[in-house]
Amino acid sequence: MVSLGLENKVILVTGGSRGIGKATVELLDSLKAKVAYTYSNSADLTSKSLGIQVDVSDPKAMEQAAQQIENKLGPVYGVVANAGITRDNFYAKLTLEDWDAVINVNLKGVNHTIKPFISGMYERKEGSIVCLSSISGDRGNIGQTNYGATKAAVIGLVKCLAKEAARYSVRVNAIAPGFIDTSMIEAIPSKVKEKLIAEIPLGRFGKPEEIAWATAFLLSPVASSYMTGEVLRVNGALHT
Ligand SMILES: NC(=O)c1ccc[n+]([C@@H]2O[C@H](COP(=O)([O-])OP(=O)(O)OC[C@H]3O[C@@H](n4cnc5c(N)ncnc54)[C@H](O)[C@@H]3O)[C@@H](O)[C@H]2O)c1
Repeated sequence: MVSLGLENKVILVTGGSRGIGKATVELLDSLKAKVAYTYSNSADLTSKSLGIQVDVSDPKAMEQAAQQIENKLGPVYGVVANAGITRDNFYAKLTLEDWDAVINVNLKGVNHTIKPFISGMYERKEGSIVCLSSISGDRGNIGQTNYGATKAAVIGLVKCLAKEAARYSVRVNAIAPGFIDTSMIEAIPSKVKEKLIAEIPLGRFGKPEEIAWATAFLLSPVASSYMTGEVLRVNGALHT
């Protein structure tokens, strides 16, 4: 039988309580992986898998969560650094508080997510890390200097770490979604949404499941075994 080879693999998804993270948890669960996920509050919790309430911007708490996951489920094979926030504003009006909040979750949080697992992955000589970047870090977007800066930085982290980790057979990739229909884009005024959709050649926003499948592909030791240091753009042809 053809399979992505994720059966019984322990995989952590941060921000798994809703949106892209929740769709990813559900897909990995149906592919028979052993899934752990983190969330920042209890809203929209999935009932399956191991859920841990932890703030990705807290390095000590993330280390403790990592231990808890490995004690309960076993050594982690896959990490999906998905948790992210926006604090959008025009750059001239952007506060230092909103700048720092986004850096703390979207950039430092990715580091705190990956770091506790990397040595174990190197020792076992297997692992796949997927980081959620964004079209905003790739081609830019009005009102998202703080967010875009973190998403571009994540691409740099992925490309550098992929080169370091390759000798241990650990792969590191990024996904840069376009506009995906989750609570993250709810705040966009409907007139702006209509304009955005008109620019997307596929004529619609993406669905969280469409990013989840791209993530499963990059996690797969079967489907993407020769891919590392790559940025997979999933955006309905809304390129540059
Ligand atoms: N929706 C889009 O259009 C879009 C586009 C490109 C990239 N992305 C990226 O995809 C990822 C998921 O986005 P989404 O649209 O599903 O967002 P969402 O707001 O629906 O979900 C975000 C998740 O992150 C978690 N989270 C937020 N702050 C956290 C913290 N400090 N600690 C732990 N968890 C925290 C939330 O609990 C939630 O589960 C993000 O990194 C986002 O930047 C989204």
